[in-house]
Amino acid sequence: MTALQPVRGTTDQLADVRARHNHVVTTAQQIAARYGFEDMATPIFEFTEVFSKPLGASSDVVTKETYSFEDRGGSSLTLRPEGTAGCMRAVISNGLTQSLPLRWFYHGPMFRYERPQKGRMRQFHQIGAELIGVAGASADAEIIGLGAQILDGLGVLKDTSLHLNSLGDSQSREQYKSALLAYLGKFEDQLSQDSKRRLASNPLRILDSKDATDRQIIADAPSLSDALTDDAKQHFEQVTNLLDSAGIAWQFDPLLVRGLDYYAHTAFEFITDKLGAQGTVLGGGRYDGLSEMLGGPALPAVGFAAGIERLALLAELPDTPAETIAIFAATAEAMSDCFAIAHELRDAALPVVMMHSGNMKKNMKSADRLNCRFSIIVGHETVGREWVIVRNMNDGSQDELERAELASDLREKLGLPAS
Ligand code: HAM
Repeated sequence: MTALQPVRGTTDQLADVRARHNHVVTTAQQIAARYGFEDMATPIFEFTEVFSKPLGASSDVVTKETYSFEDRGGSSLTLRPEGTAGCMRAVISNGLTQSLPLRWFYHGPMFRYERPQKGRMRQFHQIGAELIGVAGASADAEIIGLGAQILDGLGVLKDTSLHLNSLGDSQSREQYKSALLAYLGKFEDQLSQDSKRRLASNPLRILDSKDATDRQIIADAPSLSDALTDDAKQHFEQVTNLLDSAGIAWQFDPLLVRGLDYYAHTAFEFITDKLGAQGTVLGGGRYDGLSEMLGGPALPAVGFAAGIERLALLAELPDTPAETIAIFAATAEAMSDCFAIAHELRDAALPVVMMHSGNMKKNMKSADRLNCRFSIIVGHETVGREWVIVRNMNDGSQDELERAELASDLREKLGLPAS
């Protein structure tokens, strides 16, 4: 009965999971706003070309992982596997190239046909930030600083380390590619199937291989940092100096290349050892060439995205005090009073959950399950009266409270400010 199962790699977010998800989003949104980043969103699907070129025609994401389909009008569309290409498309199509810099924060679902495992889904969710229109190293450092503070706000930073590399400018990379190919060519027979394929399409990604033999070969490969132009070296040094000046710890990772093709200069990942194989919680870098790949003008930009599911697994949630109030009618005659009181209290911005069973015991049980602090029992004896019974669910004590003062008394009992 496949129709009764969620599609592999997708999941329902029931209340607990959703609460963690929302905590990640709102924490990140608040911290991003502190940096002047505006909340925005792009559509979930785009024309396929928005992703095919910028992400790399030979990248895994484009060749194996996209959900692409033809719509009823014959256009080829793709469910977004990430948010950066859509943001850059939005800069161009909204004519914003004269309104730079842009500081954008977004969150939402992304889609990749990957092999599902812990922390890896086919529909997953990202928070992301893009700083578009600034070429200087201060933008790279600010984006990394924002990523670090979001992780810290979630209580996750202490479990991660920041890996940093420079992929240089295109001139540095072309020079390096030739040197790397000359070296790897000598070991072609020993390389893994994936790496053999990448020799022709994207040799830099071989540096990222997890295959044991590949890793031995790579250990002696020429280093990308030696191939950097003076400009590229200087940019990287400025980024790391700025990070040092703000006390943001980082480590140089010469093998960090990232899975998408649009990066140049700074590439970074915050990695944890607490999530098994899927240890990258937040990753990003500079992507100065992306706008031109889409047919737009040259635009410098830098950004990151982080997997909400991965962050939610690690995040420390604040204890939220229970402040919900249950209300129920003890008898059928009491229902109209009960309904009217519930309506009044909600009007006064109090969280009031109505228990619908006619059975007092069942209602008490449900109120307990919902972790309610108080229950209002509207009983036969209170019908038409000026007071109601309020039961403290922690100690079972009961008070009779004046109906006219009910909202303000409950507010006080819950420690909420007077409305
Ligand atoms: P990415 O490294 O492909 O970069 O993804 C960023 C983060 O999304 C990953 O570090 C991971 O936490 C999460 N993620 C990726 N795939 C999955 C999955 N299948 N299941 C669960 N989580 C996943 C980007 O997407 C770039 N757009 C980042 C960026 C923004 N670069 C510049 N600006």
